[in-house]
Amino acid sequence: MEKEKEKKMRLDKYLAEMQAGSRSQVKTLIRKKQVTVNESIVQRPEYPVDPKEDKIAVNGREIRYAETEYYMLNKPSGIITATKDGRERTVLDLITGKIRKDLFPVGRLDKDTEGLLLITNDGALAHRLLSPKKHVDKVYYAQVRGSVTPEDQEKFKKGMDIGDEKPCLPSQLTIVESGAISSVRIKIQEGRYHQIKRMFQAVDKEVVYLKRLSMGSLTLDPNLKPGEYRLLTSDEIERLKAL
Ligand code: URA
Repeated sequence: MEKEKEKKMRLDKYLAEMQAGSRSQVKTLIRKKQVTVNESIVQRPEYPVDPKEDKIAVNGREIRYAETEYYMLNKPSGIITATKDGRERTVLDLITGKIRKDLFPVGRLDKDTEGLLLITNDGALAHRLLSPKKHVDKVYYAQVRGSVTPEDQEKFKKGMDIGDEKPCLPSQLTIVESGAISSVRIKIQEGRYHQIKRMFQAVDKEVVYLKRLSMGSLTLDPNLKPGEYRLLTSDEIERLKAL
């Protein structure tokens, strides 16, 4: 009996959470007979609904329940990877079309790093993607001050010491162009604090631009400009879950 009760929520709360309007706006919609539950008009905001079983509609438009949400954000430089901050704009502030209030970024990109950031409320998936045991590949594009050499590539491949308790796992450094400012791609399987920047520091070079291109099976959509986001496709979600 208790379990039955737990599954239900107030109709006005459901509609507000699914972004049909503010709590007071949806109450008005309900009172004005614009809301149906399983095809019948309901006029009580407190009417209990089962988010997974009931068909809830506003003016004939079904408002589906979103239990989990998955967004791909092309994080711009200058925004912090956090859910909330008293002073600064966060990556969550950029997801203006979000439905759920329990979204969080999976892993952290530095304030000046751009690129792929997964934002979801799926804690189990986030845990799997971030677990050091799972060795999920993360690929970055970087511009680095100074000439990147085959010797640097060897050091990355061996697993370098960046001053932590343990050396880094072996990583793959691809030289796109070597010069005063070199362009490279790096594939790592960890997510240590400032990892890529510290790896280049260890070979006396400075990262001047950093962008994440992929995380596991998920690749940044080239159509997304910095600051833009989109929902993951069901195929992208399936493939991430299959990791
Ligand atoms: N490595 C870094 O140094 N910074 C990032 O934001 C991500 C990886």
